[in-house]
Amino acid sequence: MYQPETAPPLSTNVHLLRWVKKMSLLCKPDHIHWVDGSQSEYERLCDEMVGNGTMLRLNQDLWPGCFLARSDSSDVARVEDRTFICSASKDGAGPTNNWMNPFEMKKKLRSLFNGCMKGRTMYVLPFCMGPLDSPMAQIGVQLTDSPYAVANMRIMARIGQPVFDLIDRTDKRVVPCMHTVGAPLGPGEKDVPWPCNKEKYIAHFPETREIWSYGSGYGGNALLGKKCFALRIASAMARDEGWMAEHMLILGVEDPHGHKTYVAAAFPSACGKTNFAMLIPPEPFAKAGWKISTVGDDIAWIKPGRDGRLHAINPEAGFFGVAPGTGEKTNPNAMATLRKNTIFTNVALTPEGGVWWEGMTDEPPAECIDWQGKPWTPHLAKETGAKAAHPNARFTAPASQCPTIDPDWENPAGVPISAILFGGRRATTMPLVSQAFNWTNGVYAGATMGSETTAAAAGTIGKVRRDPMAMLPFCGYNMGDYFRHWISMQNNLSETPRIFSVNWFRKDAAGRFLWPGFGENMRVLKWIVERSTGNGMSKETPIGWMPRYEDIDWTGMDFPKEKFDELQKLDRTAWRTEVLSHEELFLDLHSHLPKELIYERELLICRM
Ligand code: GTP
Ligand code: SPV
Ligand code: MN
Repeated sequence: MYQPETAPPLSTNVHLLRWVKKMSLLCKPDHIHWVDGSQSEYERLCDEMVGNGTMLRLNQDLWPGCFLARSDSSDVARVEDRTFICSASKDGAGPTNNWMNPFEMKKKLRSLFNGCMKGRTMYVLPFCMGPLDSPMAQIGVQLTDSPYAVANMRIMARIGQPVFDLIDRTDKRVVPCMHTVGAPLGPGEKDVPWPCNKEKYIAHFPETREIWSYGSGYGGNALLGKKCFALRIASAMARDEGWMAEHMLILGVEDPHGHKTYVAAAFPSACGKTNFAMLIPPEPFAKAGWKISTVGDDIAWIKPGRDGRLHAINPEAGFFGVAPGTGEKTNPNAMATLRKNTIFTNVALTPEGGVWWEGMTDEPPAECIDWQGKPWTPHLAKETGAKAAHPNARFTAPASQCPTIDPDWENPAGVPISAILFGGRRATTMPLVSQAFNWTNGVYAGATMGSETTAAAAGTIGKVRRDPMAMLPFCGYNMGDYFRHWISMQNNLSETPRIFSVNWFRKDAAGRFLWPGFGENMRVLKWIVERSTGNGMSKETPIGWMPRYEDIDWTGMDFPKEKFDELQKLDRTAWRTEVLSHEELFLDLHSHLPKELIYERELLICRM
């Protein structure tokens, strides 16, 4: 008879115990490990992974507490075409999501999960999204056969015994999350460094609030608290309960008088959230007393407070950040954050036992081992274009290590949000910054946002697609209903945040970025804060309020007016195409589209 080896459970919750038993009978692991979340447990897991070749221990003098993992070359990013929203009706998932009948999907998954953990350990990983003491926090338990997922989740969420204790004493609903890499081992069979399966399913059941993920060990496919729970399942919960789960960073701006304003910003994957959340103001701004603090870099849970304003928490505890492009010049705060206790995935290994990736330093190392374990040199890169790090290589680092972490980042009540930004990666058409006329007009701007696709998801790179509120791959229900939910949020507020559109990525005719970005984005942010708190100047345009040249603080920067005008230019021909692509999205969503957005579109066309 099948009997897994198991230590005593760390929870007394009968529902949890029964579910773990039932799932172990399905998955048939050799061992069951209840995750307590301790440092010693983490070290044991890492030792095991080093022994198995899943991770390398980096030079501990240079990179204390740091590891490098190399994934299978077929398992390097989220798989959007294998991601499913299995709501009761197809209409519930809407046209922007892959849908499968929940009963059929469950049947499929039950057969795939049958014996999927043979020869492996099943980890019982309790996690809390949000500070443990926050009324906005939510709990999940992930059953996984990936120690890599456990180690990463320990950085990304609050996990272990305190969460078991919370489960034992509250009646808060627990979201069950099943995860397997889909690579059972036969008796005596040797494991590979990065087990995974060609076949992949990332399945969500919003009505029953369940997640089943099969076949991948990478990022959002495997760290189920992140995109699967905190965005796809949470967005459906938020719709039911009157709050919002968004793909947004949260930052604080302190002005020279010590007044603090919090801002949330939705940029699509690999479009600058981590960088913006950790922005370092240009020197004259810093000297004058402007300070930026970081609350979160990827996800915001936002809820109306008793004061009639929106308040946001960061449900995560760490950063799963894009490595390439992160360097001392672009994001020194991220560099300081990842100096210790960090897991690197798919970056290059230097001869000293350190890490490197494109953009980390101006000068590449003379030689290194690339993300697939092969020798790499700058010369080879010149000849073949080979990258040392995978474009979607990531660092998993504790948020508490960020030098600019906000004193209120774990405030259980969250922080008040005064402005919401939407920003895509657009080489043309979209200006550097504009402000929506009002809430509904801002919802229209977010809903119709376009962005070039990036390496964060498997598939084509650089193609403009509509990515409403940066949530296209993350909304757990019908996008039309999601727009309606956004519009209706205003009803529960006495003060709505001001809404802005930004684009750091506009290019000139020669294909060069028109805007230097990064720290210089502070100039735009200052205008946004001034507009949101009452005294900023602007001019009216067909697409919203825009700063005049003199409304931006150019102290310490030589940026000619002609260049600014080019950045802000409203190209009517391009906008014609733009509005037509809004219409395409609206046609797809027509049966659920709120009429407010149809009117907004008409008004925009009239103004154009
Ligand atoms: P996810 O973690 O995938 O959700 O992404 P993210 O939005 O946090 O992206 P991130 O901040 O890591 O940015 C990824 C890429 O955008 C990197 O290549 C950066 O160099 C680039 N980037 C960020 N900010 C700017 C900017 O202001 N200007 C330009 N030109 N590039 C930027
Ligand atoms: C994204 O793709 O938006 C990410 C990385 O933040 S992942 O967690 O892999 O989805
Ligand atoms: Mn993201």
